[in-house]
Amino acid sequence: MGKDSYRVVAIDGPAASGKSSVARELARRLGFALVNSGAIYRAITWHILQNGINPGDTVRVTQAVESARIACHLENNESRVFIDNVNPTNYLREDRVNEGVSRVSTIRRIREIVVNKMRHYARSHDLVVEGRDIGSVVFPDTPYKFYVDASPDVRLQRRLAQGQRDEIAARDHADFSRLASPLIVADDALVIDTSHLTIEEVVGKIIAQLKLKGLAL
Ligand code: DC
Repeated sequence: MGKDSYRVVAIDGPAASGKSSVARELARRLGFALVNSGAIYRAITWHILQNGINPGDTVRVTQAVESARIACHLENNESRVFIDNVNPTNYLREDRVNEGVSRVSTIRRIREIVVNKMRHYARSHDLVVEGRDIGSVVFPDTPYKFYVDASPDVRLQRRLAQGQRDEIAARDHADFSRLASPLIVADDALVIDTSHLTIEEVVGKIIAQLKLKGLAL
């Protein structure tokens, strides 16, 4: 028999804000499973690009995604996405995926599909979930919400240090301005500026806040 309800820690923030590293370390410290929602949008984007579909073609993107088999699992307590039995994990940071994912993630039907996948994980596991709309839309009822940010300069430097060419300013614009679930700070989220903090310092702040909120650790 499973528990009646599982706990969700929401970590939202813009591209290259440090949220993936923070969410991974936090999940490890808490012993919760880690769900990377951006990776699900990226996997879908990779799939439609592989099929020669333009990410801006809402009708064809939607048809392709609805007819694909999208399977979300946990591997070593982290989310993994398989599409039509292919695991695209190694391709999720390709330039073309960076460029297409903001378009694909504006499509309401695609968002519905991804949100359902995330909620499904929460039926059987305590989770740390990272993304853009986790505290505002996907799990609005969780009391554990964090918004991780950093200055645009620091975020650009972090991506360059990872050897990636990622148009952060363009993705910021798309993420903040889209109609469906734009990136916003949930009213009850704790905002953490990570510009001058280490991952351990950010995780320390989050754990302190979780304790204040009564999360039994
Ligand atoms: O976190 P990331 O950079 O891997 O996310 C890739 C893109 O996916 C991001 O530019 C917007 C989209 N995304 C989203 O719309 N909602 C989420 N919860 C997570 C990501």
